[in-house]
Amino acid sequence: MTHVAIIMDGNGRWAKSLGRAREFGHRRGAESVRKVVEAAPDLGVGTLTLYAFSSDNWTRPAREVSALMALLGKYLREQTSRCAEKGVRINFIGRRDRLAPALAALVEQAERRTAGCRRLLVRIAVDYSARDAIVRAASRAAGDVPLTRESFAARLAEASHSSAGPVPDVDLLIRTGGEQRLSDFLLWECAYAELYFTPRKWPDFEAADLEAAIREFRRRERRFGGVPAAKAV
Ligand code: FPP
Repeated sequence: MTHVAIIMDGNGRWAKSLGRAREFGHRRGAESVRKVVEAAPDLGVGTLTLYAFSSDNWTRPAREVSALMALLGKYLREQTSRCAEKGVRINFIGRRDRLAPALAALVEQAERRTAGCRRLLVRIAVDYSARDAIVRAASRAAGDVPLTRESFAARLAEASHSSAGPVPDVDLLIRTGGEQRLSDFLLWECAYAELYFTPRKWPDFEAADLEAAIREFRRRERRFGGVPAAKAV
């Protein structure tokens, strides 16, 4: 099953283009999240990892940070039961100790209530920094002998506070909003990810856009450093 990760960018610019506050863009962005989660299983996606709030996003104005945290809480309150019914497992990655206790409780409740769901795993990255997670994992792994990619990935899962085990390698990384960078997202897991950049801003991103990205991904030849089978002789 395919692991798709998405950097949901462009909410602020989308809102600004309409003369509205950035928070309006985030609210519409949460709608896109709902649509994409709904569409993903039928497109062959087994894991969907969404970058909702990076550790560097704490530097944004307090009003925007609170709006984003409130939106996450609202999403969990409104969507957890629906996800449970639809077989969607919710899991968070990122630091939990800096979240407000009420939000941390909602996160844990959503993870618990959907723990048995198997149709789609949705990982939401909040207060997440790939470099911080790698540093934490490396310090935990200091005495591990032998240290392998697999055992390090398990350390990384602990360091990312994932209660759903290691984050699998990303197959397809989508970034909306026109920028072409990784922004400290899943640096280890994206080693062989196919990258897909679209100018479409996240609030405008729909199921059809996810389908187009996956169609393009399926056309790509993935070689993982090898050579195509036909040329291997
Ligand atoms: C980047 O756009 C987007 C974010 C920092 C937040 C993403 C959050 C959501 C889509 C809503 C809540 C999420 C869930 C999972 C319910 P930006 O603000 O950096 O846009 P800009 O580049 O146009 O300024």
